Amino acid sequence: MENYHIAVIPGDGIGQEVTPEGIRVLDAVGEITGAFRIEYEHFPWGCEYYLNHGRMMADDGMEILRDFDAIYFGAVGFPSVPDHISLRGLRLPICQGFEQYVCYRPSVLLPGVKSPLADKQSGDIDFMVIRENTEGEYTGAGGRAHKGLPSEVAVETSIFSRVGVERVVRYAYKLAQRREKRLVSATKSNAQQHTLTFWDEIVDEVGEEFPEVSTERILIDALTARFVLQPESLDVVVASNLFGDILTDLGAAICGSMGIAPSGNINPEKDYPSMFEPVHGSAPEIAGKGIANPIAMIWCGGMMLEHLGQPEAADLLDRALREVTASRGVFTPDLGGKSKTTDVTDAVIASLRKLAD
Ligand code: NAI
Ligand code: MG
Repeated sequence: MENYHIAVIPGDGIGQEVTPEGIRVLDAVGEITGAFRIEYEHFPWGCEYYLNHGRMMADDGMEILRDFDAIYFGAVGFPSVPDHISLRGLRLPICQGFEQYVCYRPSVLLPGVKSPLADKQSGDIDFMVIRENTEGEYTGAGGRAHKGLPSEVAVETSIFSRVGVERVVRYAYKLAQRREKRLVSATKSNAQQHTLTFWDEIVDEVGEEFPEVSTERILIDALTARFVLQPESLDVVVASNLFGDILTDLGAAICGSMGIAPSGNINPEKDYPSMFEPVHGSAPEIAGKGIANPIAMIWCGGMMLEHLGQPEAADLLDRALREVTASRGVFTPDLGGKSKTTDVTDAVIASLRKLAD
């Protein structure tokens, strides 16, 4: 029996509602498999904390998190605090400070879920987006000058480093090698003549280490169309920070809902804890209503178990989730149903018990 220490940051809005549901499922998986036990420590960081303390997390937050096996994160952001403050005060320092340079985002159409794309069945959409997660357009380098004057300027510089691009591209190639041996690299090197030509060159270089993997370089604008018109043709997509962010909301949408897409911010070397969070945000307009879909958060728990070295437990959870969606009986409103957040969790736990019998 393994013991894990998990830091829990529910954050804001529906983050507060889906996080406890994810924990209920993790506990059930631990109990059913007998393979592990999780000790959680909760941290009240987020927008309310900011309004009381003037910062999004404790001053020594990073040192505190450093010793955990992983971080289970809901969502951050609320209308009461500007989004760039909430994002830059909590999620980004963790991703950047803990070298979580891989943002791993599956786009999978689950059985029973209706895609907004006509005639798509489960199995037709099943690909991974590997998003660079520490630099690029999110580096944070820049500034504003001449504030309030007609001459006011704003500069935000994308920074791409050889180390940064190589490591995420190599990760994507390794994943492609284990899957269908096809990699798509998102680029825009026709217009971004410095950074993305550099990106393209590194993809070519790293690609030479993986001769059995085919590589397609696709301009980001054409790639968005490809997500809609031919999602079956995708298997592993590697993208810069901003491109990956945009592509994965589109990926979630074609798979039926923002409420089902999970994400892992991964430090592959395990020098630091990795962080698991849904792709979605805090959804303020449905917060407090008890109708947020917990599937993304629950699925993140499965990804966390896989990362912690519990692939069988992760597989059991994956099968339970698929059984619940396939039955179409317990859907929250985003998937066209009338069920509550907690109903979905109850169904997943019941399915876990049934599958384990
Ligand atoms: P959002 O993902 O919160 O919401 C987009 C749409 O999806 C809304 O219609 C929402 O109701 C729906 N939705 C999202 N999750 C759902 C769920 N689990 N079940 C049912 N429906 C769901 O994105 P939005 O509205 O752009 O941002 C809201 C706030 O969240 C902002 O403050 C933003 O900065 C923050 N945010 C935080 C993220 C994070 O913590 N990683 C990621 C994205 C946004
Ligand atoms: Mg996003």
